[in-house]
Amino acid sequence: MQPAMIGGSGAVKSSAGMQLCRSIAEMRFAVRGCKAKNQKLGFVPTMGALHEGHLSLVRAARRQCDAVAVSIFVNPTQFGPNEDFSKYPRTFERDRELLEKEGVDLLFAPATEEMYPPGALSYVTVEGLSEKLDGRSRPGHFRGVTTIVSKLFNIIEPDVAFFGQKDAAQVAVVRRMVSDLNIPVTVAVCPIVREPDGLAMSSRNRYLSPEERVSARALSQSLASVRGQFEAGERDAAKLIAAGTRTIARDPAVRLDYYEIVDPDTLDPLQSVSRPALVAVAAFVGSTRLIDNVMLTP
Ligand code: PAJ
Repeated sequence: MQPAMIGGSGAVKSSAGMQLCRSIAEMRFAVRGCKAKNQKLGFVPTMGALHEGHLSLVRAARRQCDAVAVSIFVNPTQFGPNEDFSKYPRTFERDRELLEKEGVDLLFAPATEEMYPPGALSYVTVEGLSEKLDGRSRPGHFRGVTTIVSKLFNIIEPDVAFFGQKDAAQVAVVRRMVSDLNIPVTVAVCPIVREPDGLAMSSRNRYLSPEERVSARALSQSLASVRGQFEAGERDAAKLIAAGTRTIARDPAVRLDYYEIVDPDTLDPLQSVSRPALVAVAAFVGSTRLIDNVMLTP
């Protein structure tokens, strides 16, 4: 760990140059410093437990912007009552070291009460889109995502915000929100980073037992079989989905949540792949819910 000194704003600044802000006031003050220097500010929102997927977003921000801000906040409003909020992995010291090595300038890591003080009553909802794909299986999830992301955008006022294609429905919902609410930010989307065997990287992968970790390959394998059928000329969505679900069904340890082929912007189901289509899958492996997707472009 690098020695730390206290900066003028009260935020902690390490000698490598990353400033840790715990309060909204400190973060706003630090952001003002970047803006005063006319820096293009990139922002990567995360819930921590960082892996190469997150770091790929940080590197894209580093390449495209002059200054990079990352947030780590496990957002309670996007978890359902029976979901994994309390057991969600929290690895703050490691995350902080990783971000420092990546040359991040500002790390915003507020406490829950800082973001949701008692008495807060306002939410941001993208009606219609929020009930599709993960929103159908996880009621209230996207309302929590759009509420926290809009709060973070208001605090940080980034020029560009970086999201992963891994969460394709989240991308659609955030893009819609940014457009509908005239938020002055560009949304940049980065490709899915995978383990060598194809499993999409996720903070939740660490919940998997060694046997479940093997079963978890079914998601990316099923998408590969859909892509194979598509490349062989199949365009009928029902037949492509059948190819995917057959692969999932081969392993009894994998329980399908949804398998859909949708328009990537509206998330409405497509009958056939005659234009770019998002193939999205969610499945439980044991009690861990995993998601993955692939784009098909005719
Ligand atoms: P989290 O799951 O921590 O993910 C943070 C960002 O990393 C998201 O944009 C996600 O799509 C991206 N990401 C995760 N795994 C990835 C992978 N394998 N390849 C590429 N990108 C990947 O998504 C959230 O947090 C939250 O919903 C958040 C937006 C922070 C709001 O709370």
